[in-house]
Amino acid sequence: TEFQVIINKIELGHELTKEDIIILLNAKEALEVKTLFSIADRFRKEIVGDVVEIRGAIEFSNYCAKSCNYCGIRKGCNSTKRYRMKEEEIIEAAVELNRLGIRTVILQSGEDDYYDIDTMCSIIKRIKLETKMGITLSIGEKSREDYLKLREAGANNFLLKIETTNREVFKNIHPDNDYDTRIECAKWLKELGYVNGSGNMIGLPGQKIEDIAEDILYFKEMGIHMIGIGPFLPATDTPFENLPPGSVDMTLKAIAVTRIVCKNVFLPATTALASIDPDGQRKALEVGANTIMLISTPEKYRASYQLYKNKNMVDIKSAIEAIKNANRRLPKYLKLTEKEEL
Ligand code: 5AD
Repeated sequence: TEFQVIINKIELGHELTKEDIIILLNAKEALEVKTLFSIADRFRKEIVGDVVEIRGAIEFSNYCAKSCNYCGIRKGCNSTKRYRMKEEEIIEAAVELNRLGIRTVILQSGEDDYYDIDTMCSIIKRIKLETKMGITLSIGEKSREDYLKLREAGANNFLLKIETTNREVFKNIHPDNDYDTRIECAKWLKELGYVNGSGNMIGLPGQKIEDIAEDILYFKEMGIHMIGIGPFLPATDTPFENLPPGSVDMTLKAIAVTRIVCKNVFLPATTALASIDPDGQRKALEVGANTIMLISTPEKYRASYQLYKNKNMVDIKSAIEAIKNANRRLPKYLKLTEKEEL
């Protein structure tokens, strides 16, 4: 069969074409899906090993200047209580992660200019000084100059998802964004020496399987190191509130194919996947994923960072659960109390 021809190509170490990827993503028969998943799992094991990388995300502000149609913290969305963490609170949350042994902190927010570049640089420098952790930023589109300043202040990684490489779909979900600007930002980040993160959503309105195949090839061509793939989930009080969520199975297939195509990358078992399926992170870890992001936002703010309905509050306990059930290992650098290890 066509499917078997592609499996043979993978085994021979040949590059996959867009058409090949589409056939893999279209796999429906149980045996085919199983074959795809087990190859992805083998690639994961051989390339990055059994240890699941744990990162902590601090969602420090849910104010946003943009009105992305899918997003629960979009500008104009009135169902969320807005909050901004103070500089001290952000540092404190980062220090707490460091105490757990975590080596990378992700600072994420809406596109909120309240935190000007000097403020962000000061936060970055202080976290570096007090913890030496790797710092990932996920704060949206900025000018090249700003990206440079943040990099010089000590930021190591930057997550700026493309969400979809289909221009039409991109435009339809991002009324305030321009596709070419987004690509340009990703290129700047790369030039400036950031470790580049991207990702997409599965099941966006108008998105086709061939678009997902293009997304995966884009991640490869752009040399993306961290690729967050999650299902689209409807968010309260947004234009997409009543749309159906993306499929878990398609998300898992996309993760598997991305591991096979992109090879040595960080593939998170995303919060969105954990939110639509309580066992979603374990499933992702078994088909190519190797990273979990803990939601490390202080408790009093967590519920307000509601990017979509029923967002799962991935914590250390649920992460350990998924890791154990997937038969994988916790990193040695984690300093857990006995209680947490149970
Ligand atoms: N459904 C799924 N994922 C979402 N994100 C934002 N809103 C949604 C949604 N409604 C994801 C996007 C974004 C990341 C921070 O969260 O991929 O880049």
